[in-house]
Amino acid sequence: MDKFIIQGPRRLQGDVEISGAKNAVLPLMAASLLARGESAIENVPDLRDVRTMIKLLRILGAEASLDGSVLSINTKSANGIEAPYDLVRTMRASIYVLGSLLATHGKARVSLPGGCAWGPRPIDLHLMAIERLGARVKLDHGYIYASSKRLKGTEIAFPVSSVGATANAMMAASLARGTTVIRNAALEPEVSELAKALVSGGVAIDGIGTSTLTIEGTQSLNPFRHRVIPDRIEAGTYAAAAVITGGSVRLHRCDPSHMEAVFNALKASGAEIKIENESVLVEGPKRAEPGHIVTREYPGFPTDMQAQIMAVLCRAKGFSTIKDTIYPDRFTHVPELRRFGADIRLDGNLAVINGVPSFQGAPVMATDIRASSALILAGLVAEGTTEVLRVYHIDRGYDRIVEKLRGLGAEIQRVSD
Ligand code: EPU
Repeated sequence: MDKFIIQGPRRLQGDVEISGAKNAVLPLMAASLLARGESAIENVPDLRDVRTMIKLLRILGAEASLDGSVLSINTKSANGIEAPYDLVRTMRASIYVLGSLLATHGKARVSLPGGCAWGPRPIDLHLMAIERLGARVKLDHGYIYASSKRLKGTEIAFPVSSVGATANAMMAASLARGTTVIRNAALEPEVSELAKALVSGGVAIDGIGTSTLTIEGTQSLNPFRHRVIPDRIEAGTYAAAAVITGGSVRLHRCDPSHMEAVFNALKASGAEIKIENESVLVEGPKRAEPGHIVTREYPGFPTDMQAQIMAVLCRAKGFSTIKDTIYPDRFTHVPELRRFGADIRLDGNLAVINGVPSFQGAPVMATDIRASSALILAGLVAEGTTEVLRVYHIDRGYDRIVEKLRGLGAEIQRVSD
C-alpha cells in the first residue's frame, strides 16, 4: 500500500488549478443511465471514485471511457440492474444508481452500503423517496430490491436535508408519470448541477437552487453533455493549506460563489482572501486566530471541510471549538491529529481545541477522504518527517494531490511499501 512522506515545515506559495467536483460528477454519471445513447461529462477529475463509478456503469452494461477530462458514457446496451456489494462497499455513492435503474428498468438491486469509516450513514430517506414514487422496496441478504411499474409523480417531504436522497429522488422522478414536488431539497451546488443536466436531457425542473423542486417527469431522457463545476472542497483544502502554512496560494478555476462559508472561516482566522477575475488569492497569517465552527448544510460551513479547518485551528493562538451537526461521529482524524501534538478534547459532536504553537511530524493513518487531507495539512507544517499511511482514501477524492502540492513548494512524495 502506498504512503505519503512529507518533510515540514514548508510555506506554500504559487498557483494551483482546481479540478472538477467529485460530488458533482458521481450523480451525473448515474444520471446518464436514464438516457439511451451517449452522454458526455466534461471537466471530470481523475479520481478513484470516478473509476469505481465507471466500473459500476460497465457492470450495468454501459460503455464508459475517460479521455483526458472528458467522460463518454454510452448506455445503448446498459441492461443490468444490479450494483454489487464489492463496489458499493468501496464507494457509498454507488447508491446513486438506485433511482436511475428503477426509473429506467422498473427494477433495481443495489447492495446496502453499510456503515462508513466514521459511523452509520443511513439511506432511509433514499428508500422513502422511491417508495413515495410508487416503488416496492424489500431488503434481503444485504441488498435493496426495488421494483415498480412506471413511477408516479408525488410529493416528497424530506425531514432532513440530504444531498444523496434529493439526487436519487430527482433522478427517479425524471422518468415518473406526472409531477413530483420535493420539499426540503438539499441546496448543495452539486444537486443543482444534477438538476441542470436533467433539464438539458429534457426534464422540466422548477426551483433549481431552492429547497422546493418541482419535476415534470418525461417518458425518456435525451443524452446530455455537461461540464462539471469546480470542486469547492478541493479548493477549500488548498486554501486551508495556504492558511496553515502562512503561505500565499492562488486558486485557479474555482467558483468563489460556492465557498463563502469556508472563506469567511479562513478570513476569521486571519487570512486575506482576494477574489480576482479568474482566480482567488489566499494569503495566510503567520499564526491563525482561533475560531468557532459549526458545520451545516449548504450554504453553511461544509462537514467535508471540518477536518481541514480543525488542522488549521489546532495551531491557532487560543481556544477554538468545532461542532459537526451533519455527522456527529466524523472525528476519526482527532486521535491522528493528536499524534502531531494537537490538544483536542471531544465531547459528543463538539471538539474543543487548545491551539499549540508547533506540530511534530509523526506516522499517521488516514481514515477517510477528508480526514486524510487534514493529516497532509498538518504534515506540511510539522517539524520533521510525517508519514501518512493508507493514502487510497486521498486517491478517492483528490486529483493529483502530490503534483499539486509539490507545485506549491511542498516536500511530499508518494512511496510504495
Ligand atoms: N441522512 C439520513 N438518511 C438518509 C440520508 C441521509 O438520515 O437516507 C442524514 C445523514 O446521516 C446526515 C445528513 O442526512 O446526517 C446529510 O447526509 P447526506 O445524505 O446529505 O450525505 P450524502 O449524500 O451521503 C454527500 C457527500 C458527502 C458529504 C455529505 C454532506 C457525495 C457523494 N457525498 O453525502 O461527501 O459529506 O453529502 O454534505 O456527494 C466526501 O466527499 O468526503 C463526502 C463524505
